[in-house]
Amino acid sequence: MDTIKAKAYGKIILIGEHSVVYGKPAIALPFKATQIDVEIKESKVSLIDSKFFKGKLDEAPELLYGIREMIRRIFEKYKSDRKFVLTIKSTIPGERGMGSSAAVSVAIARALLEFLGVSYKNEDIAQWANISEKIVHGNPSGIDVSVVSNEMSLYFIRNKVKEHFPINLKAYLLVADTGIMGKTKEAVRDVRNLVIKDRAYLDNIDTLERLANRARQAIEAGDAVKLGQVMTHAHQNLQKLTVSSKELDDLVNLSLANGALGAKMTGGGRGGCMISLYDSQNKAEKAKEELLKNGAKDCWLLYLEN
Ligand code: PMV
Repeated sequence: MDTIKAKAYGKIILIGEHSVVYGKPAIALPFKATQIDVEIKESKVSLIDSKFFKGKLDEAPELLYGIREMIRRIFEKYKSDRKFVLTIKSTIPGERGMGSSAAVSVAIARALLEFLGVSYKNEDIAQWANISEKIVHGNPSGIDVSVVSNEMSLYFIRNKVKEHFPINLKAYLLVADTGIMGKTKEAVRDVRNLVIKDRAYLDNIDTLERLANRARQAIEAGDAVKLGQVMTHAHQNLQKLTVSSKELDDLVNLSLANGALGAKMTGGGRGGCMISLYDSQNKAEKAKEELLKNGAKDCWLLYLEN
């Protein structure tokens, strides 16, 4: 049998991380500069070949428990005991708020369903991938899997709205990696403890809701300046929720000092990536150089006009 190949791209949350857990809107986009590639080939024993683990599927470590369970459930549903070698290659840095775990699950689900000869829709892939994500992240809002499986920018409200929302703006988005692993699960848990302890933190969540809706209006109006202001304001609220970090704040400040219209952390935080917005490629390229000289481990530039 031929080798089956599948891939999935990373994602970036433009606005609404953390507040999305509380039923507030978020906007996210696929991040096609990074991707997961998987290959599946029939074999006598099921094996995984990845950067983190090479060996029998049954012996895969905790890091891969989500994937193991998703695979087990897929084979159970389709009553198959076929064996395979699964090869996983990634250019998405892990634990950086770029959707690496969602993309691995989505790419594997796509490849496995094809391997089993099952036709599928994006929603089916999202359902399978969410099995793995729940094990990895606890109680994810589902935004990562939605964006990664649909490969479209989305306006998202947990369990309610998944609206394709084209981000078409004459502006450049710089994504900068602190090189430090984010701590999504811990950050989500700490925000929950904060809002339980002191309801004043719910005001930050409500502010993030207003900002996500303003970001949407700014994008629809083609107003990059407004979107930039909204992004920086969102970052200040995320700082108050204690999910930023010194390295993220440094990259935000450096971006703002180098001509950014706005800047914020993206994803779960406490590490991971920062995004900043520019009205010209020249400014974005210059800022990129400065960020790389001053702490960013990697940078990607996205033009937001489709
Ligand atoms: O760190 P990431 O890319 O998995 O993003 C997490 C986004 C949160 O809103 C913090 C959590 C969630 O489940 O949506």
